[in-house]
Amino acid sequence: MSVKDNVLKILEDNKGKHFSGEEIAKELDVSRSAVWKAVKTLTKEGYNIVGINNKGYCMLENSDVISREEIEKNLNKELRAKADIEVYKIITSTNAVLKKMASEGAKEWKILVAEEQTNGRGRLNRNFYSPSNSGIYMSILLKPEVISTEALFITTMAAVAVSEAIEKVTNVKTEIKWVNDVYCNGKKVCGILTEASLNLENGKLDYAVLGIGINLKTPKDEFPEDIRNIAAGFMDGTECEIENLRSKITSEVLSNIYKYYKHLEKHEFMDKYKEKSMLIGKYVYIKDKEPKEQLLVKDIDDTAALVVEHSDGRIEKLSTGEVSVRLMD
Ligand code: BTN
Repeated sequence: MSVKDNVLKILEDNKGKHFSGEEIAKELDVSRSAVWKAVKTLTKEGYNIVGINNKGYCMLENSDVISREEIEKNLNKELRAKADIEVYKIITSTNAVLKKMASEGAKEWKILVAEEQTNGRGRLNRNFYSPSNSGIYMSILLKPEVISTEALFITTMAAVAVSEAIEKVTNVKTEIKWVNDVYCNGKKVCGILTEASLNLENGKLDYAVLGIGINLKTPKDEFPEDIRNIAAGFMDGTECEIENLRSKITSEVLSNIYKYYKHLEKHEFMDKYKEKSMLIGKYVYIKDKEPKEQLLVKDIDDTAALVVEHSDGRIEKLSTGEVSVRLMD
């Protein structure tokens, strides 16, 4: 373990307690300046460490920093061996950066996680608001041996993975809004964007960058006006404090994805996807289609199409990517 990892261990195992630089240096058999350097790096990475004259260094309780060490701690051995995780305090877009890495030969399971994005990308060329201290933004490089039409199932799989992760770690109930949004109390708490590179020779995917943005809480300065009524954090309104929540959620999401991805072609997650659907049995309308028609959602079929019934009894299958639907008021 590096000096930094050792210092982190001491401070983390003793949250709320102070240790002088000298004490830590002695314990680790390194110089005081090495300890000082390690603390400086850890603080830069976002760890809530305070240094008080005469008292020394102390990690504050309830610090929620995203760190590779914390994420890896909760992964199983198999995934830990494969995952190559990089954590950024701030990045333009984890998807954009990972796509570049993929085109330069990065390996499967390269994972970028960020606390803030300055240019987060959403579906349909929209932005994804990604401020600091409010969410988790991650991208995972996958190289599935499947034909391009299967790319859709990477997204549906991820929606189930996120929904299950939030519920397991926090007990907060979540639902999935067709096709790839995770909702909590009627508001969107997670968006997913899979960007794939197609191999035209064999019709398979060269790679897919699976991007996931999860809102933990409404940012201090609120969400921007245009999404204020739609977006929320899954921890909004809850009192409970979970230590290292963002790292825990990240580990759980990655573990779930790893589990489902192993047999992606079996679509094992589709039953759960349907179970968690917030649209089945509800009335919806197609966004931007006039006149507005009320449609009853009957089912989601095996191709992830939304099966709807028109008011004249006609059944239609809506494909993902073609339309967006909204719940009727
Ligand atoms: C959407 O709801 O429109 C999809 C949003 C996807 C956002 C995530 S955040 C991590 C990754 N990096 C990006 O730039 N976008 C995705």
